Amino acid sequence: MNVLVAYESRSGRTRRAAEAVAAAVRARGSDAILKTLAETAAEDIEHADAVAIGTWVEGFIVAKVGPAKAALEAIGQLPAIGGKPVAVFCTYGVTPRTTLATLRRSLEAKGANVVAENASHRSHPDRGAAELAQRLCTAPEAT
Ligand SMILES: Cc1cc2nc3c(=O)[nH]c(=O)nc-3n(C[C@H](O)[C@H](O)[C@H](O)COP(=O)(O)O)c2cc1C
Repeated sequence: MNVLVAYESRSGRTRRAAEAVAAAVRARGSDAILKTLAETAAEDIEHADAVAIGTWVEGFIVAKVGPAKAALEAIGQLPAIGGKPVAVFCTYGVTPRTTLATLRRSLEAKGANVVAENASHRSHPDRGAAELAQRLCTAPEAT
């Protein structure tokens, strides 16, 4: 099984979270490709059996907290994900609020089947990565 782990990271925490997801996927015997969302191309999505997508939480006022704007812009450029199992994750400093729900909706709009989500505090970016990978790799649609 080929898993694409795509992330948007500004100062490295979400990259660490993504690396932990990729390591957990590989520990299960699957292949993982790690890319930034900005460098993710249509072929990367097409070649993947399952996809994990992560972002940092961005907001300036409480009511406007969500996925980093750059992440949502990059997701908007992705091709259809057509029913593939997808896991979403984020790292945050204070609270993710509705970040994961917004991320989930942006991917469901592409046809993704979101099967797992995880928010980790920036002090422990790899927390929850193994469970996320497990749920992604054992999703019914995954082969
Ligand atoms: C401009 C900016 C805005 C942020 N806004 C929020 C926020 O509204 N809520 C929150 O919990 N964390 C916020 N953070 C913290 C980041 O989400 C957190 O540090 C994250 O782990 C950074 O990930 P990165 O190292 O991958 O860039 C903000 C960080 C920056 C730089």
